[in-house]
Amino acid sequence: MGRLTDPARALRAALLALALAGSCAKARPAVTGTRRCVTWKEEVGPLLADRCTGCHGGAKPAAGYDTASYLGTLGNGSDGVPNAVAGDESSLLLQTLAPAAANQTHQTAIGTSFPTVQSWVVDCALSYDTSSVHAAGILNPASPDFHGELVRANKYDFSLCAKCHGQDFTGGTSQVSCTSCHKDGPTACSTCHGDIASKGAHARHLGGGPLGKMYGCPECHKTPTTYTDPGHIFLADGSLDPPPAEVTLGAMAALTPAGATRAAAPSYDAGTSTCSNIYCHGAVLGDSAATNTNPSWKGAGQGQADCGTCHGLPPNNVNNNACAMCHPSVVDRDRTIIAADLHVNGKVDLGPADKGCAGCHGSMTTPAPPPDLSGQTAPTAPGVGAHQAHVQGKAHLGAPIACTECHRTPKEVGDPGHIGGHGPGADVYPAEVFPTDPTVGALAAADGAQPSFDGATGTCAGVYCHGGGAKLAGDTTANLDRAPVWTDATGLTCGAACHGAPPALAPHQPTMTRLDCAVCHRRTVDPFGNIIIAGAPGAETSFHMNGAIDVSM
Ligand code: HEC
Ligand code: HEC
Ligand code: HEC
Ligand code: HEC
Ligand code: HEC
Ligand code: HEC
Ligand code: HEC
Ligand code: HEC
Ligand code: HEC
Ligand code: HEC
Repeated sequence: MGRLTDPARALRAALLALALAGSCAKARPAVTGTRRCVTWKEEVGPLLADRCTGCHGGAKPAAGYDTASYLGTLGNGSDGVPNAVAGDESSLLLQTLAPAAANQTHQTAIGTSFPTVQSWVVDCALSYDTSSVHAAGILNPASPDFHGELVRANKYDFSLCAKCHGQDFTGGTSQVSCTSCHKDGPTACSTCHGDIASKGAHARHLGGGPLGKMYGCPECHKTPTTYTDPGHIFLADGSLDPPPAEVTLGAMAALTPAGATRAAAPSYDAGTSTCSNIYCHGAVLGDSAATNTNPSWKGAGQGQADCGTCHGLPPNNVNNNACAMCHPSVVDRDRTIIAADLHVNGKVDLGPADKGCAGCHGSMTTPAPPPDLSGQTAPTAPGVGAHQAHVQGKAHLGAPIACTECHRTPKEVGDPGHIGGHGPGADVYPAEVFPTDPTVGALAAADGAQPSFDGATGTCAGVYCHGGGAKLAGDTTANLDRAPVWTDATGLTCGAACHGAPPALAPHQPTMTRLDCAVCHRRTVDPFGNIIIAGAPGAETSFHMNGAIDVSM
């Protein structure tokens, strides 16, 4: 507490009241009746600049303590606690300099001037300047006499200050300009809210939170365009709007996307400082794995926006923690948010829209892997396997094989049977091969073949193309490989894989060679024993492996 005598305080109050009533004081009037106190401006500021600022100044002040300015000198050093507290004999500043306790450095620095500093802190309440108008604490934010408090106490009537500090606040008769510290003027938003983005839950929402989101004031408040707008600090009748600040939640908080369930309008309860039914906090997503969809504005603080609070990680109805498989534009494979603007934006983002199917798997050439869903590109990875040999006809065995031979194939990412989503029965990883579906496997199931794929061994069986079906079942050629391994990149050998060359089946003779096939299968094989593939790239056709035995001479 300040040690200023009550009469001194009363005198100043009387002078200010007088001034506010009309007669402006001139600049820095002489003080009569009381002993002039030690001030920052006249004694302490210059003293510290001379003795201390060499170490306690510049870009990296010693112990984080900056004596170059008044606020710095009052302020926090290494421990976050004010170093100079008005009237407090045990202020760290005094402890550090007191002759009995000071270390050599500080003894030398302060010399014989300790009493000056002590008097400034204890008797003069850290007085900024000699003033007949304002109290010692006019510039000390910790003081009840701080000028911000003065403005508040005067019901934000800036015309009172303007009387002496000028209509434009650049000095007036007082010759002290408000704009030297408040460059946009004292009534600008930044004067009263300049540091709002650095404090508490505001900091998390206005920028710098773990999710990297930056919301504007209108997301949560009716926002004034000038400070005098009704509902801001004044009510419509001009009287003061009592605290707390009004919270008026905006469009994002109120969002209810298709499929979501909203129990009630979004709200903020000032009594408990708790939000409820906020879209952003997952309250309408209906995810029972979410741990905190009703965060407290002033409460626990840390951890209220961790992964898993608004929706589970994974959400309760996904059995797959690899979010990037389906949400690759939002998270990477380590589940780090890579595009803050796409997260909590009111829309479920699946794959980068501009890349189409290739947003999640495959390339711009074909949606078939590589890369597969986990980013693998080697054919030895199960998600990659022999896709390119099939879909691009790279083995030169026939026309390219469409996705629909092996998979249910979506036209749009949201088509049923593709990735589904999270709901019960949603289709999930790994991809389904040869599902029971009339749209799948016309060729693979030709001639009564019963194609199947065993994910555990990565092996196909019963596929028409690989020698399945009634006709080829009669081919008794030894050691055929009719259950090829998806990731075996060595390829298949003519005559040793699907059927013999020729098949061990009439009317063929064991003496025939590949050069003879064209005699009876003219449209399928050329006279050199090569399979004939016609048509432009991407639209190739062939009589080989087309579901019919083509005999023509
Ligand atoms: C030669 C460099 C040097 C000078 C000159 C110096 N100091 Fe320091 N001061 C330090 C260092 C280093 C520390 C941190 C370690 C320590 O306490 O000695 C420190 C610590 C302090 C602290 C504690 C800060 C905290 O928050 O931990 C205060 C207060 C302080 N000094 C005030 C002063 C004042 C006032 C002066 C001038 C009268 C002054 N110092 C002059 C180097 C200096
Ligand atoms: C009666 C005239 C007068 C009125 C009214 C007045 N001031 Fe001042 N103010 C001064 C003078 C003169 C100074 C210069 C220091 C001194 O002599 O007190 C000053 C200084 C200040 C300082 C800076 C301290 C310094 O010395 O550099 C602040 C901040 C300040 N006034 C804020 C306000 C605010 C806010 C109001 C309105 C609530 C206000 N003043 C009303 C006369 C006035
Ligand atoms: C020497 C610098 C300085 C001068 C000159 C100054 N101010 Fe300030 N003012 C500050 C600081 C520092 C703060 C905010 C401290 C904080 O963050 O709480 C502040 C805060 C304020 C606030 C915000 C109060 C609140 O808590 O919301 C108002 C209003 C204000 N000043 C008005 C004025 C007016 C009017 C003048 C001129 C008469 C003036 N200031 C001159 C430094 C100054
Ligand atoms: C995500 C929602 C949200 C956003 C965005 C937001 N606020 Fe707030 N604000 C709140 C809540 C909640 C309170 C607490 C009300 C109470 O005291 O109960 C609050 C309180 C305040 C207060 C009262 C004092 C304080 O610091 O608590 C002020 C002033 C304020 N907000 C200004 C702003 C300004 C200016 C912006 C934009 C720069 C902003 N707010 C952005 C939610 C928000
Ligand atoms: C002179 C100081 C001052 C200035 C200038 C000022 N505000 Fe405020 N503002 C306040 C105070 C005080 C509150 C808290 C009112 C309450 O507790 O009800 C507030 C509250 C708010 C709020 C929270 C909602 C509400 O009305 O309670 C928002 C948003 C806000 N201010 C935005 C702004 C914007 C934008 C500007 C500039 C156009 C601005 N303020 C200028 C002092 C100021
Ligand atoms: C197999 C694809 C797939 C995977 C893997 C996946 N999601 Fe989704 N996600 C979707 C689809 C599709 C939707 C939209 C339709 C729906 O909700 O069913 C969706 C919607 C969401 C939603 C909106 C709420 C909801 O349930 O509709 C959130 C939140 C979400 N996903 C988070 C995640 C997180 C976190 C992960 C990883 C732990 C993840 N997802 C993994 C496909 C997937
Ligand atoms: C503050 C609440 C909140 C937190 C915390 C949160 N999320 Fe979300 N998340 C959502 C909401 C709401 C959606 C619904 C879709 C949307 O609006 O973007 C979502 C959607 C997602 C999606 C689906 C893709 C999308 O954005 O559409 C993924 C993936 C996801 N979150 C991952 C994470 C990860 C990883 C973390 C932790 C780093 C995390 N979330 C933390 C609220 C949150
Ligand atoms: C010859 C059959 C076949 C064809 C044709 C085929 N696939 Fe596949 N696909 C598979 C097999 C086998 C797997 C591996 C399943 C597993 O790992 O269990 C697979 C897996 C996938 C996967 C999942 C990859 C991963 O990371 O697990 C995607 C995506 C896929 N295929 C897309 C396509 C698309 C798109 C096409 C057409 C352009 C296509 N496939 C054509 C057989 C085929
Ligand atoms: C948001 C990411 C994403 C996009 C975009 C996407 N897919 Fe898929 N796709 C997947 C996932 C995940 C799987 C594996 C799903 C599963 O296990 O059933 C898959 C599997 C497939 C399969 C294998 C069959 C299946 O459903 O399991 C085919 C074929 C396929 N996708 C084709 C496409 C086509 C064609 C497009 C463009 C229209 C496309 N995909 C766009 C994520 C995506
Ligand atoms: C003398 C004529 C002739 C020659 C030469 C011939 N094929 Fe055939 N091939 C046939 C006839 C006829 C059928 C149809 C049998 C049927 O419909 O049951 C057939 C059917 C097939 C089939 C279907 C399976 C089956 O046995 O019915 C395959 C595979 C086949 N031939 C491969 C070959 C290959 C490889 C060669 C060259 C090494 C070849 N053929 C040479 C006449 C011939």
